Amino acid sequence: KKIAVLISGRGSNMSALIAACMDPGYPGQIAGVVSNRPDAPGLDTARRYDIPAVAIDQTAYADRAAHEAALIRALDEMAPDVVCLAGYMRLLSADFVRRFEGRLINIHPSLLPLFPGLDTHKRAINAGMRIHGCTVHFVTDRMDEGPIIAQAAIALVPGDTPETVAERLLRAEHRLYPHALRLVLDGAVRMSNGRAIVKPAP
Ligand code: GRF
Repeated sequence: KKIAVLISGRGSNMSALIAACMDPGYPGQIAGVVSNRPDAPGLDTARRYDIPAVAIDQTAYADRAAHEAALIRALDEMAPDVVCLAGYMRLLSADFVRRFEGRLINIHPSLLPLFPGLDTHKRAINAGMRIHGCTVHFVTDRMDEGPIIAQAAIALVPGDTPETVAERLLRAEHRLYPHALRLVLDGAVRMSNGRAIVKPAP
């Protein structure tokens, strides 16, 4: 199956997906990478793996609708079965989300539904949480909501700062995203009527 990845920056989760897809036993291949920012370092990383990587610069379009139309043209060429958001920092419209419904997924650095939005590590520390984590979920038109595909948790320890947590959690993200994507590619988790349906293990 074909996968497209949308990024805005560093692209370390994208790299984890690329690495997973290099295993011949993995049920997907990266068809291409698109960034809304031309300076995203992840674009060069993808190109080093000979993966088509294009910037669709949001500042070059009059509005969100025009930018998304260009995004859709680029994605249509890649003909992806699944679109993965990996640090994609621009809100997608309800129309865009509907077009890819059930095959558009995102990774978020918290145990949703706790801490949607930004600064999740700082908020988890300030809330006195003893655990924290990351979530891969189907994207709906409500930001950082949407049916949960898979989650991973880490312990928060005394002395943790948003930086130490980010570093530790990122490693968990890099393991979780390929795993969650595989569940979707295999049809082991799918979205139906706004819920995630998990296929019972055989
Ligand atoms: C990750 O923490 C991800 O959970 C969040 O944005 C960050 C992206 O990092 N959505 P990277 O670009 O994948 O390195």
